[in-house]
Amino acid sequence: MMQRMSRTKQRPLNRSATATSADGVSTIPEIRAGQSVALLKELHILTRDGKLNQDSRRKLKQVYHLYQFIEPLLQQVLAARGDVSLVDHGAGKSYLGFILYDLFFKSHTAGRIVGIETRQELVDKSQALAAQLGFARMDFLNLTVQASITTPELPAQIDVVTALHACDTATDDAIRFGLSKNARFMVLVPCCQAEVAGVLRQHKALSLSRTPLSEIWRHPLHTREFGSQVTNVLRCLQLEASGYQVTVTELVGWEHSMKNELIIATRHSGPRRSVAARLDKLLDEIGLADLRARFQPAPAPAADAEPASAAQ
Ligand SMILES: C[S@@+](CC[C@H](N)C(=O)[O-])C[C@H]1O[C@@H](n2cnc3c(N)ncnc32)[C@H](O)[C@@H]1O
Repeated sequence: MMQRMSRTKQRPLNRSATATSADGVSTIPEIRAGQSVALLKELHILTRDGKLNQDSRRKLKQVYHLYQFIEPLLQQVLAARGDVSLVDHGAGKSYLGFILYDLFFKSHTAGRIVGIETRQELVDKSQALAAQLGFARMDFLNLTVQASITTPELPAQIDVVTALHACDTATDDAIRFGLSKNARFMVLVPCCQAEVAGVLRQHKALSLSRTPLSEIWRHPLHTREFGSQVTNVLRCLQLEASGYQVTVTELVGWEHSMKNELIIATRHSGPRRSVAARLDKLLDEIGLADLRARFQPAPAPAADAEPASAAQ
C-alpha cells in the first residue's frame, strides 16, 4: 500500500511572508510560502482564478488554527524517532490530511498520512488528488474505522491519530484504534453520538426511580444534550484510564459548527486503575452499564512490554 504512488519533485519552501505562484495567483498574505496553490483551488479555498474571498479566508484561518495544535505533535515525534505516521479517521474529502501534508509532510523526507473513509468515491478522489499533487506519502483506505484496527495494510504502531467530526461512534472507534496502535497522540473533534443518549432514554424510568441525578437528562432535549456531553466525558476517562493525559478545549474559530470540542490526548504512563474505577462507577451511576465495552480502557501491557516513555 505504501508504494502505490510515485514521488514527484517538491518545490523548496520560500520563507518570505507572502506567496506568489507560477500560475498567476496574486500575492496573498494568508497563503503561506511554499503552499500548493493547486491544492487550495481543489479544496475551494482559492477560487479558480486564484482569489481568496471572505468565506475562504475564514476557512483558512480555521484550518491554521487546528494545524497549530497538530504541528508540534508531529515535530515532537519526528524529532524523537526520525519518522512520523498519522492516520486520519472519517477523512471525508481529506481536507485536514491534505493541509497537514502541504504544510508539514511536504517539507520533510519522512512521515506518512493515511486517510480512512467509508465512501469509495471520496477515497478515489483523494487518491487521485494526492497523485496529481505528488503527495507521495499520502494514502487512503476504503474501510470503516473499526476495520482499520485490524487491517494488514496498516502497521502495528501509529504515532498520531486524528478524527475530525467522524460521525457518531466513529470517534469511539478512532479511540479504540489509537489505543490498539499505542498512539502517542490523539486529536479528536467529536461529532454527535447517538448511542449514549439512546441508552439513557431506554433506562430513563428506572433511573428516575433510582436517583435524582436523572433529572439532568429527563427532558428529551436534555437527554440528547447530556448524552452528548457525557459521551465526551466518558471518552476522556477512557483515555486517562489508558494512560493518556487529556486536554479539552474549544476549537475556537470553528463557530460555524455546533461540534467544536477539541480533545487532545498524550500518552504518558501506563493504565491507571483508579481512573478506570471512576469510569466504571460513573457508568453504573447514570445507567450506562450496557456501554462498558464501548468505553473500555486499554488493557495493562504485558510484563515484558516497552514502557510508554521509551517507546518512541
Ligand atoms: C462529517 S464528515 C467529516 C469529514 C472530515 N473529517 C472533515 O472534518 O472535513 C464524516 C466522514 O466520516 C465518514 N465516516 C462515517 N462513519 C465512518 C466510519 N465508521 N468509518 C470511516 N469513515 C466514516 C463519512 O463518510 C464522512 O465522510
